[in-house]
Amino acid sequence: MRIEILGSSAGGGLPQFNCNCDNCKGYREGKKSIKRRTQSSITISEDGVNWVLFNTSPDILEQIHNSPFLHPTQRRETKIKAIIFIDAQIDHTTGLLMLREGCPHEVYCTKEVHEELNTSFPLFKMLEHWDGGGVIYNEIAFNKQPFFIPVMPNCEFYAVPLISNAPPYSKYRDRPRVGDNIGVVVLNKITGKRLFYLPGLGVLEKHIIEEMSQADILLVDGTVWTNDEMIKNGFSSKLGTDMGHLPLRDKGGLIDLLDTLTKPRKILIHINNTNPILDEESPEYKELISHGIEVSYDGMSIEI
Ligand code: MLT
Ligand code: MN
Ligand code: ZN
Repeated sequence: MRIEILGSSAGGGLPQFNCNCDNCKGYREGKKSIKRRTQSSITISEDGVNWVLFNTSPDILEQIHNSPFLHPTQRRETKIKAIIFIDAQIDHTTGLLMLREGCPHEVYCTKEVHEELNTSFPLFKMLEHWDGGGVIYNEIAFNKQPFFIPVMPNCEFYAVPLISNAPPYSKYRDRPRVGDNIGVVVLNKITGKRLFYLPGLGVLEKHIIEEMSQADILLVDGTVWTNDEMIKNGFSSKLGTDMGHLPLRDKGGLIDLLDTLTKPRKILIHINNTNPILDEESPEYKELISHGIEVSYDGMSIEI
């Protein structure tokens, strides 16, 4: 199974259009230690030909353009055969509109996310007006109930419910339901290896830690370094945890937990442009690396 990181950044990307933080500014000024990053998405494949996409980022067209394996080889076709939505956040869903010419899309999501994308942010409904007629909905259930995707016949998928937050536009903001946010485990039944993908993680519940400890590849929420990072920078009145993102460095944060895990390769994803680890010359980046934790980047490729 191949895993390709299409977008390693959180909402806004790097540089973010209206941001002049140290990282966005540094990138624009040509600082070599800061990479350009698009918004939150990965894609996986068994055969390298047919791909399962996680999230449709607002940057999807650029991401496809930058990924030759996703280019059509027939006169009209998409290599993206299924789309999994892990939540209904803007940075994980908006790009579906950019894929409208390829309807119908096979989508996999929880019934809570399906409700959001038919009501508060009705992408699924809107796409019904295009040729091919919208999406084909496959419901994702919980509690390790596996689901299968035809183009990846040797893999088993299951959703792990977790606590993060519903989108800012949602009526469930700050009171998310089970199913508004999930992580997904992909088990390659041939190699026995596991990917655990969770770009939004607000609370370290016991079942999440157990799932993490069994993973071979962990792609986990690296949004903020400290909980008050957005406030300190003067960009927001919200803590990381208000947005459903556990900080990395604070006591009881993600680094402390990752230090206790021995099995997985630990890779951060969904990293906000304000996060100091995105400058490879920063002490924070060096500290992270000293813990054996990696920072994903657009174009990163992993095989399991
Ligand atoms: C998040 O990850 O919390 C969201 O992407 C926030 C947003 O949509 O701005
Ligand atoms: Mn996000
Ligand atoms: Zn910035």
